[in-house]
Amino acid sequence: MSRFRLTRTLPEDATDAALRADVLAGLTSTPKWLPPKWFYDARGSELFEEITALAEYYPTRAEREILLGRAGDIAAATGAQTLVELGSGSSEKTRVLLDALTGLRAYVPVDVSESALTGAGQALVAERPGLRVHALIADFTGGLTLPDTPGPRLVAFLGGTIGNLLPEERAAFLSGVRALLAPGDALLLGTDLVKDEEVLVRAYDDAAGVTAEFNKNVLSVVNRELAADFAPAAFEHVALWNAEREWIEMRLRARTAQTVKVQALDLAVDFADGEELRTEVSAKFRREGVRAELAAAGLELAHWWTDGADRFALSLSVLR
Ligand SMILES: C[S@@+](CC[C@H](N)C(=O)[O-])C[C@H]1O[C@@H](n2cnc3c(N)ncnc32)[C@H](O)[C@@H]1O
Repeated sequence: MSRFRLTRTLPEDATDAALRADVLAGLTSTPKWLPPKWFYDARGSELFEEITALAEYYPTRAEREILLGRAGDIAAATGAQTLVELGSGSSEKTRVLLDALTGLRAYVPVDVSESALTGAGQALVAERPGLRVHALIADFTGGLTLPDTPGPRLVAFLGGTIGNLLPEERAAFLSGVRALLAPGDALLLGTDLVKDEEVLVRAYDDAAGVTAEFNKNVLSVVNRELAADFAPAAFEHVALWNAEREWIEMRLRARTAQTVKVQALDLAVDFADGEELRTEVSAKFRREGVRAELAAAGLELAHWWTDGADRFALSLSVLR
């Protein structure tokens, strides 16, 4: 039996319905918005991997540094036999955890990106003869059902992806994760930390323009999936720090007044000259805020580890 299994927990037409609902709601709102999960078709996942290697994009390196230093502590504190990873992408950093979790029997990566799951899952089973990989194509915000694999389970949510959820979405998400856990299970959460504005903005507006291309990729997804006629070149990539909310916002700013047609929705969307469409928020955290958000979901922060420059944190909660 193959040690790599891929399960789609959402029918393809549910994904289509969700994209239609989000595009209709977001492009008819004031201000306009689109949710970040639609960045990640095969091209978007590839572009995100390129971002992680950019000099300006410190979070991946900082989180890897913490994992390298603390994976042994994480293994000792959890004794995990199953590692579930939400928004696993390429599972690149996860290898550090997989090396340390010596009792591990199953890895369950969960992502909306089928191409990322297939690429990572097939590579991992080829590299690791003892590992079973049960990948789930699923939306981690939408009530997950996990496969029946041995406990204790460690649920990892890395990359600071939790910052892409708005505060009320984070609360619902964390409660949902808590509901998946049995006593002895644990949550490992990666959070990017509040820091100097210039460093933050550069991480989302790199000199080579890779993040700009990633940002505009959502327009290509809407064009392809919903027969829209966005001209990506007619929009400018914008990254700015919202000091009050302590989050980075990525936006796409119309270079001129224009009308975009979304044929599949029979929708015409007017953009004024300079009008902005918000495509992502990336919240930055402080220890006390993370502790309080975990506590509100019934999770106790047991460990808080940062990299040497205090740029990024990993926190571990073990359910009693
Ligand atoms: C910022 S990337 C992080 C990838 C990887 N965990 C890392 O640390 O490099 C976010 C990942 O989450 C996935 N993703 C985004 N929204 C999602 C959702 N609602 N449900 C499942 N996966 C999602 C994306 O496809 C992408 O692989």
